[in-house]
Amino acid sequence: MMAEITAESLRPNAERLAADLKALAEYTDSVAPGWTRQVFSDPYRASRQWTRHHMDEAGLETHIDAAGNIVGVLPGRNPSLPVLMTGSHTDTVHGGGRFDGMVGVLGSIELARTLREAGLQFERDLVVVDFLGEEANPYGISCIGSRSIAGVLKPEHLDRTDHEGNKLGDVMTAFGLNPNQAISQAWKPGSIHSYVELHIEQGPLLERRGTSIGVVTAIAGIDRLMAQFHGRPDHAGTTPMDGRQDALLAAASAILTIEREACGAPIHGVSTTGRIESSPGAFNIVPDDAKIWAELRSIDPAWLGEVKMRIAQEIAEEADKRGVHTMVEWLSDQAPVQATKLVQDQIAQAADAIGLSWEAVPSGAGHDAAHIASIAPMGMIFVPSQGGRSHVPEEFTDISDISQGVHVLGAALARLDSTENPR
Ligand code: GLV
Ligand code: MN
Ligand code: MN
Repeated sequence: MMAEITAESLRPNAERLAADLKALAEYTDSVAPGWTRQVFSDPYRASRQWTRHHMDEAGLETHIDAAGNIVGVLPGRNPSLPVLMTGSHTDTVHGGGRFDGMVGVLGSIELARTLREAGLQFERDLVVVDFLGEEANPYGISCIGSRSIAGVLKPEHLDRTDHEGNKLGDVMTAFGLNPNQAISQAWKPGSIHSYVELHIEQGPLLERRGTSIGVVTAIAGIDRLMAQFHGRPDHAGTTPMDGRQDALLAAASAILTIEREACGAPIHGVSTTGRIESSPGAFNIVPDDAKIWAELRSIDPAWLGEVKMRIAQEIAEEADKRGVHTMVEWLSDQAPVQATKLVQDQIAQAADAIGLSWEAVPSGAGHDAAHIASIAPMGMIFVPSQGGRSHVPEEFTDISDISQGVHVLGAALARLDSTENPR
């Protein structure tokens, strides 16, 4: 007879999980800073073989789908039921850390291993996914794999080019994927009973308050823009200050506008200009061309909508005063996403059952969960980030905190397994 699933029976093996995190972290770009493993890079390709093999060893039935998601299935007692899905990503930002994304993928695999070793089985299939390319990339399309599963990876995304003119679709093909199928392989609504993602918080709230578990309420929406500025090149020594059309100054002014607007957000709102280019790039020539890449984030859809319009208008007005022409292009927009209330409740009750403190927190970071939420009830579990640092090599979460997160993930999925319909 099958053993009964209790919260205690789902306690993960922290030492083994720590070893897995260390092993995956070996796959990094040797010339980039930190723990860099960017999508489509050689270390990413190599690490994915390790990840798939690791899923195989844990007893998952694995395949790689058209978009490059590594999918592992731990069969349930009743494979005809809508599945439980969990997972995250194993790509990193340039100069990133060892935990953002990896905790969710390796933690899910540890959960599958724990279940198998204890002779336990969910009623539903447990599907673990290492989603392809979650982080921002030069094509302006993050979360490539989860967008594909959710049916929101579009043909126009495949035509996006990087700085060298390479199209995303061609790069996917060269990576051994099938982009045309990736835009048409969406999972059917109803096929996923619920999706729960474990992730590091990437901010300081849980650590500051001494709370073990974050129950995510909503994932911030993200609007990304590229603004171009065209002025006039002139001699930097002879052109009077009031006779210039300095594109770089117009860009600088735009950057401050973008900052000011986020500082005025009524609830959580942030903005970042992460990149700037200007030409001709000489000491002694007034810059005639500049470009900036920036993003806005908030869990408040109304603010995001308004600020988008205001920023485009203010950038144009300020540049106009300098005789500089502007063009603002919105590269991507991802609306804020609410976590499903019933899934949040199951996570909170799982934490209570294990005896861990928890609190409701918003996510300022983007996640694959935001896309899967369009086809399935969704929830996220956060564990504390030391010093709130993330997207930097210093990113760190203690293995005991990660292990607690995996424990809550298992207990929450076990509760959802026997829940009729979490919508
Ligand atoms: C993903 O990590 C993001 O929030 O940029
Ligand atoms: Mn990240
Ligand atoms: Mn992440």
